[in-house]
Amino acid sequence: MANENKQATWGGRFKDGPAELMQRFSESISFDWRLAPFDVQVSKAHAAMLNHIGLMSADELQAVRDGLDAVLADIESGELVPNIASEDVHMNIEQALTKKTPAGARLQTARSRNDQVATDMRLFFRDACGKVSAQLKQLLRVIVEQAEANQQIVIPGYTHLQRAQPVSMAHHLLAWAQMFGRDLERFEALAERANICPLGSGALAGSTLPIDRAFVAKELGFVDANGEPRLTANSMDAVADRDLFIEFANAGAICGVHLSRVSEDGILWNSAEFGYVRFSDAFTTGSSLMPQKKNPDSLELLRGKSARLQGNLQTLLTLSKGLPLTYNRDLQEDKPPVFDTFDTLMISLEVLAGTLAGMTVRADKCTAAVSDPLLLATDLADYLVAKEVPFREAHHAIGTLVGMAEEQNVPLNQLPFDAVKKVNPAFDADWVDVFDLKRALSLRERPGMPGPEQTVARIAAWRKRLG
Ligand code: ARG
Repeated sequence: MANENKQATWGGRFKDGPAELMQRFSESISFDWRLAPFDVQVSKAHAAMLNHIGLMSADELQAVRDGLDAVLADIESGELVPNIASEDVHMNIEQALTKKTPAGARLQTARSRNDQVATDMRLFFRDACGKVSAQLKQLLRVIVEQAEANQQIVIPGYTHLQRAQPVSMAHHLLAWAQMFGRDLERFEALAERANICPLGSGALAGSTLPIDRAFVAKELGFVDANGEPRLTANSMDAVADRDLFIEFANAGAICGVHLSRVSEDGILWNSAEFGYVRFSDAFTTGSSLMPQKKNPDSLELLRGKSARLQGNLQTLLTLSKGLPLTYNRDLQEDKPPVFDTFDTLMISLEVLAGTLAGMTVRADKCTAAVSDPLLLATDLADYLVAKEVPFREAHHAIGTLVGMAEEQNVPLNQLPFDAVKKVNPAFDADWVDVFDLKRALSLRERPGMPGPEQTVARIAAWRKRLG
């Protein structure tokens, strides 16, 4: 009984193996198995470095390299099934390798799982940020395409969910693009921040062996623009630091907020009350009871998934806040939230792109909504300001007119001119020209405004950025 379960990696110090319950409780292989390609990459680089400093022969290096390739192939083919008795991806791979070649027993020289997992995760983040960035660009292309197609459509812009001022639909869509554009910047910057090599930090205090950290960093591509290796500066921080995990989850949570807000706009626009857009059958679902229903489920789910993205960030903040330096086993719990953020983001970005690609705009509904002359009440105040009326006075005058129109139950632009003139003598007969939407938008051509020429320029700028 005593040694049956004895743990291969640290068995020397132990008489008994862990309880079966403890194995099930402490394993991470059920979620860190996906790190296998990165773990193999790290091990190959480490082996090359051991050979470089004379701690592994050329033959052993070759055997380790071939062995690791074979292990990875076995993983990919499904032949190598992870074993929870070997706890995590690092020990499963090490043990599978050692079965293939005795040289595997040299691989953990001057290395701990603590610096190993930190290095694996930096490779994961570099890769994940690249993939999320590519998916964000794909979504941005769809948004810019829809903006381009809907430059002529004018809709009310809202504050307090009350009709406020007219904007082109393109301008609204390009606001979404700005949000996702900032997400793209965040993930691109994070890939750069991930680009530092912790390997060689050991368990927490490095190694007494003459390891070459720069060599291994270069092998793994942890280099700056000039090809110079980038190394973590403190071995204790290197194995305890989880900032990148938190930053990745943070970027994911913010992106989730954007996914959710855009989804909410889409849900409103698609409702009968607005009716500005319709979504394709491919991303909507029906009701099992009400035959007439066509629900924007993809957008509702995106709004819901954003809650998970926020939860993952909170988990990581709470997980790390009370830990003494350096590594503590709590930190094994750092991976599920990161992987969930990555997986949730990837599919969410793809689903939003698909949903928006299938969005059709209902010009008649938009025209009807934006024809409310009240949307140009502010422009009418500006009209008076142009005639040298102080803005506060102008604001008051237009307020009076709006009240009159409401009382008489007529649209603002159909008040009789002499009544209007009585409210403020600066009004001329051309006051009604203000209610021309084309004029209203063409007066908004300064940077960042919804004027048609601005929109054309913004679309061109996005096209250039997205390639
Ligand atoms: N599976 C572990 C983790 O993800 C690897 C590091 C284990 N280190 C240790 N000292 N037990 O955290």
